[in-house]
Amino acid sequence: MTHQYPALSAEQKKELADIAQKIVAPGKGILAADESVGSMAKRLSGIGVDNIEENRRLYRQLLFKGDERMQECIGGVIFFHETMYQQGDCGTNFVKMIKDKGIVVGIKVDKGVVPLAGTNGETTTQGLDGLSERCAQYKKDGADFAKWRSVLKISETTPSALAILENANVLARYASICQQNGIVPIVEPEILPDGDHDLKRCQYVTEKVLAAVYKALSDHHVYLEGTLLKPNMVTAGHACPTKYTAEEIAMATVTALRRTVPPAVPGVTFLSGGQSEEEATINLNAINNCPLARPWALTFSYGRALQASALSAWRGKKENEDAATNEFLKRAEANGLAALGKYEQSGDGCGAAGQSLYVANHAY
Ligand code: 13P
Repeated sequence: MTHQYPALSAEQKKELADIAQKIVAPGKGILAADESVGSMAKRLSGIGVDNIEENRRLYRQLLFKGDERMQECIGGVIFFHETMYQQGDCGTNFVKMIKDKGIVVGIKVDKGVVPLAGTNGETTTQGLDGLSERCAQYKKDGADFAKWRSVLKISETTPSALAILENANVLARYASICQQNGIVPIVEPEILPDGDHDLKRCQYVTEKVLAAVYKALSDHHVYLEGTLLKPNMVTAGHACPTKYTAEEIAMATVTALRRTVPPAVPGVTFLSGGQSEEEATINLNAINNCPLARPWALTFSYGRALQASALSAWRGKKENEDAATNEFLKRAEANGLAALGKYEQSGDGCGAAGQSLYVANHAY
């Protein structure tokens, strides 16, 4: 069975592979700043700030205006649609601000989760209609990668075979459409940390989900060298009574990845999934010190774990903007080191950085 109908030309493949490599260059990861308007409502209400467009713009601006420390450790920033078309106070649009730092611009393209009828609260993710046209427009407007989040849940009866298959297929279809438009797809099958399951169960489910995702990506002729994977780390459920060390989490995570993710994939960019800022950094560092061969870059694509301290330093006040930017850069630098396995734990575990960012049944 030879491949008679190649999906991509050699030039298209090279462009995609180069973009993916640039995002996960050594010591770099991704800032996920693609919270929808609804998710921003939750973030901003936590600091007593109104969820209006101007406040969202001011907040994103303080992240994006980071000094030269930012380009050392951030390879990509994921935008939400609204942010793609906003500008800084200086009149420069955010896309240009980020690109001028040599950082790749990404865009969230899914339209959120919807129920899968007849399941125990499981979901699929919508947004395929018109996706090709939207990708073509975003590419023109400066985006070179995209994100699509699927969600799976662990319980006695889930994830069901249906949820695994449906989400794998929708991720693969999205990935194929992105690549046709010169956009590197970040494939995100997030397994939520809700529940009291132990580490072994999370590892087992992660392996089954990732195996299904890579089967679907192969079926859809997706060019793996031009993709990134954004998985959960393998951790016990939030309510599990047993606590595991970072080394145990790292071993379970790398083992699951080695069993399922082809070495052709250039990078794995973990989501933080409600871990505290410090925990997410320590676990990433342990993953990069795990004594197993790791053929991919293993780095971060954090939302909450890069922004929590910045948000609480800001509190919507102009005079706090520089301090907030600094808090963001501190976390970004710590995670950049963790992506190299060179992070040394600070005292930050006891302050804001040590606070759990867990939200039950998290939406994005
Ligand atoms: P968290 O790091 O807050 O889990 O979010 C990352 C993300 O982009 C989830 O889609």
